[in-house]
Amino acid sequence: MINFINLILTILRIIKYLISDTKRYSIILLTIFYYRPKSIIEIGVYRGVRAKEMIQAAQIFNKNIEYFGFDLFEMINKKIQRKELSKIPYSKKDIKNILSKYAKVKLFKGYTSKTLNKLKNKKVDLIFIDGGHRLDTIKNDWNKSKKFQKKNTIIIFDDYYLDNKKIIRNFGCNLVVNKIDEKKYLKKLFFFTDTFVHLRQRLNIKMVLLKKLNNE
Ligand SMILES: C[S@@+](CC[C@H](N)C(=O)[O-])C[C@H]1O[C@@H](n2cnc3c(N)ncnc32)[C@H](O)[C@@H]1O
Repeated sequence: MINFINLILTILRIIKYLISDTKRYSIILLTIFYYRPKSIIEIGVYRGVRAKEMIQAAQIFNKNIEYFGFDLFEMINKKIQRKELSKIPYSKKDIKNILSKYAKVKLFKGYTSKTLNKLKNKKVDLIFIDGGHRLDTIKNDWNKSKKFQKKNTIIIFDDYYLDNKKIIRNFGCNLVVNKIDEKKYLKKLFFFTDTFVHLRQRLNIKMVLLKKLNNE
């Protein structure tokens, strides 16, 4: 049965994003609306905002949603924040309190180079890769996320930078995404581009959607 409250909430959130400076987030909710995932992995939980929105969008069609979140949580500090071009998240305990009201939630604290190995024997419907922004971190997150994929798993990458050849040498998912084999994955750059300024550089950002085409 359709959950009409979550349907209305999700429609309002999509409208809110469409009239904001972060239009690309509307696409995550539209993707969930279309593909109806029952299990979600988010790499980079931050303050749990997208997590809550993704869970509630998924619950429009399925009551029982599994959510797995990976973050440094309280392990982050200013140095790591700068190195990863990242943000300061809430603690694991706070996020657990926030998200457990909505779904079955499992959180993993620490560097994803270690924590992604801790979730075993799990295939999921949707993976959102939005953790550390360093190229090596994103490479690790992509490679380790492969074991959670099955045919039709949707993977969304944030931080695909346009018109900036310099930054993509060290940050963002461009070099990872550009190498992904299109015989194995359907690959689409999402329509919306958001712009923000970081360290006096203007960054134009897109999200990328991948759909795994087979079980290999
Ligand atoms: C951009 S924020 C995530 C935003 C969130 N997905 C959202 O849409 O609200 C990036 C998060 O990744 C986490 N992070 C950065 N580097 C990491 C690493 N190497 N391992 C695990 N988490 C990391 C940060 O603590 C931060 O909370």
